[in-house]
Amino acid sequence: MGNNILNKNIQNYINANLTTDLHSLLLKKSPFPEVSMPEIVQQIKGKQVAQKKFPFLLQDGIIFPPQLNLEQASSEKTALYKSEILKGKKFIDLTSGFGIDAYYLSKNFDDVTLVEQNPELLEIVSHNWTVLEKKARFINKKLEDFLNENKEHFDVIYLDPARRDDNKNKVFLLEDLSPNILEIQEQMLSISNEVVIKLSPLIDLKYLVSVLPNIFRIDIIAVKNDVKEVVVFLSKENQGKIVCNCVNLESGESVFTYQFGDEEKAIPNYSEPENFIYIPNNSILKAGIFNLISGRFGLKKLHPNTHLYTSNERIDDFPGRAFEIKVIENKEIKKKEQFNIISKNYPLKPEEIKKKYALKDGGERYLIFTQSKKGKIILKSV
Ligand SMILES: C[S@@+](CC[C@H](N)C(=O)[O-])C[C@H]1O[C@@H](n2cnc3c(N)ncnc32)[C@H](O)[C@@H]1O
Repeated sequence: MGNNILNKNIQNYINANLTTDLHSLLLKKSPFPEVSMPEIVQQIKGKQVAQKKFPFLLQDGIIFPPQLNLEQASSEKTALYKSEILKGKKFIDLTSGFGIDAYYLSKNFDDVTLVEQNPELLEIVSHNWTVLEKKARFINKKLEDFLNENKEHFDVIYLDPARRDDNKNKVFLLEDLSPNILEIQEQMLSISNEVVIKLSPLIDLKYLVSVLPNIFRIDIIAVKNDVKEVVVFLSKENQGKIVCNCVNLESGESVFTYQFGDEEKAIPNYSEPENFIYIPNNSILKAGIFNLISGRFGLKKLHPNTHLYTSNERIDDFPGRAFEIKVIENKEIKKKEQFNIISKNYPLKPEEIKKKYALKDGGERYLIFTQSKKGKIILKSV
């Protein structure tokens, strides 16, 4: 494709078709002899994704890579959060990809290196970084080869391994990622102060701690309560303690910090519903610290398998949603009433509940279907 795609007329055509149906566009012949229609569509898709994930790239001169590289790239929001944590002199991203993480994470470093095995992708990133006036060394190699030849020391090594296998299925074991972290962790720790690895939100934290002995920090990062990343920090210097942060960005921003292993020591109190009910953020649920938050906030749990908490007085800094409620009977629910329906540890899903009680969805009020130690209960927001 080269830089022909940046030709003014072609860019005007791309910008004029940002909302056009891409399937029908692909059936047309390119109006420009120097670029094909799939190349044009790649740029349109890139701009569409950039609007949501990395708006800072919506400027003249930027080239977008194929869809898989766009999907694999981090969002500006999570990258910004990570950038606040890291600083030093020398930063290297061993799996640069489209370079979104590298762009932000390297902002507090003087010397930046990007390694990427895909030559076309690295060329696009190198071009874009020139447009963005950001300096770096770009190395087109397999990172294993780079590590074997390298003689430098880095303050931070960052990796965001590719999470798809040859069948394009998502994989969640470290052995199945590219690169295989288990094989290179020692080598990376021997040439850096800190290794930071972004992993899938579906990865199991206990498994991670069992296979990565140098972990000293784990961040579970959600954006608008949707868990996007689990980020692990490794160092040779670790003291055996692992600090975990459950982070929620954007809506109801919060960070809940605890030490890995605290959950095993926590003993919850139980109660039937009191005046307020709390639903923890998903980063907390992902961490599995169901008993710990009960003790930390002085809340009582409804049931061992119901991750809802209750109190008589409102707790303002709880990392999640709070509802003032009353317990109601089945018969108090009237047909055609409008509620948001929440089902937790209850045999019916919200859709089934809606059908059973002939309810309308939405509005300001909530019905929570759940179980306390006494059995099934229905809670209504007041
Ligand atoms: C998930 S993407 C990284 C996305 C990046 N963090 C971003 O924000 O744009 C992973 C990248 O690592 C590269 N990669 C995977 N295994 C590699 C290896 N062994 N050596 C070099 N690059 C590798 C892939 O080509 C892919 O571009």
